[in-house]
Amino acid sequence: MAWCLHDAGEDFVVIDNLSTGFEWAIPQSVKLYEGDITDEKLLQTIFHNHDITAVIHFAGSIIVPESVSNPLKYYNNNTAASRTLIEACVKNNIKHFIFSSTAAVYGDPKVIPVSEDAPLSPLSPYGTSKLMTELMLRDTAAAHDFQYTALRYFNVAGADPEGRTGQSTRNATHLIKVACEAALGKRTHLGIFGADFDTPDKTGIRDYIHVSDLASAHYLALKRLREGGESIVMNAGYGDGYSVLQVIDAVKAVSEVDFEVKTEPRRAGDSPKVVADNSKIMSNLDWKPQFDDLPTIIRHALNWEKKLQFKNSL
Ligand code: UD1
Repeated sequence: MAWCLHDAGEDFVVIDNLSTGFEWAIPQSVKLYEGDITDEKLLQTIFHNHDITAVIHFAGSIIVPESVSNPLKYYNNNTAASRTLIEACVKNNIKHFIFSSTAAVYGDPKVIPVSEDAPLSPLSPYGTSKLMTELMLRDTAAAHDFQYTALRYFNVAGADPEGRTGQSTRNATHLIKVACEAALGKRTHLGIFGADFDTPDKTGIRDYIHVSDLASAHYLALKRLREGGESIVMNAGYGDGYSVLQVIDAVKAVSEVDFEVKTEPRRAGDSPKVVADNSKIMSNLDWKPQFDDLPTIIRHALNWEKKLQFKNSL
């Protein structure tokens, strides 16, 4: 997002506690406040030092099974921390807010592709923690001069096509990242978490969206709010579903490495199939995805993984 805003010539600052992020991941010219969004004093300093008109809020924890074993971490880091940030925005008269929500709010959707008005029934504390933030935003927008956009992310993958940044968190659990690591020999094998789902090849189906297309959706959502757009909640996905086996085959084809794959038990909190109905985002934003192609997503992820290997060995 920082690179997207930078490329568009926007003036912005970043706050990050660097718990999973890296200082080098943002353009050098961008001011970074290292700290937590629960630090009200730091937020006041930032709002005092800069003429902030909008906040794009990505901070949070994102691992579904971890949220099942440690729910209070998620209610603290996702829900309570967001409350502090939203309150600071209201106090400082910041009217526009963009929030990273998740497809996990749907749980195990009965109708695929899933649209925004489907029942909300998260299967994990992660999904619930994000849904609670959506509800706080809804109620805040009803009470104050405050408009928000919540983007319900499907499975974010890929990396900056120019190779400037990519997913770099150690011990990441994302399927495409893990598969790329296996292809590069950073892992001995890849585990398939469940091959007994009610899907054509029995493995889980997800809608993988390229990170750069997701960033551009945020930027368009920001412009829409600036132009007077009302608060809105939208799915951010392509509407294409791929099974774990299809992703593995695609990573093997792109990398030309036949890494080892083992079937393992299901993970707690995993849905069998989640694919976006993206008609709402398509009709509300002038969004034209550039990388809606699984091999392209994988190629960018793999290129980044190779670069990261080099970075880490320095
Ligand atoms: C991801 C996001 C979550 C988002 C959700 C929306 C991450 C870490 N989490 O969760 O924030 O809300 O999408 O759909 O990106 N799998 C394996 N082996 C592995 C890793 C994964 O078989 O080593 C399988 C999983 O069981 C699942 C699929 O691959 O079926 C995707 O898993 P993962 O990349 O972890 O993302 P989600 O759990 O779907």
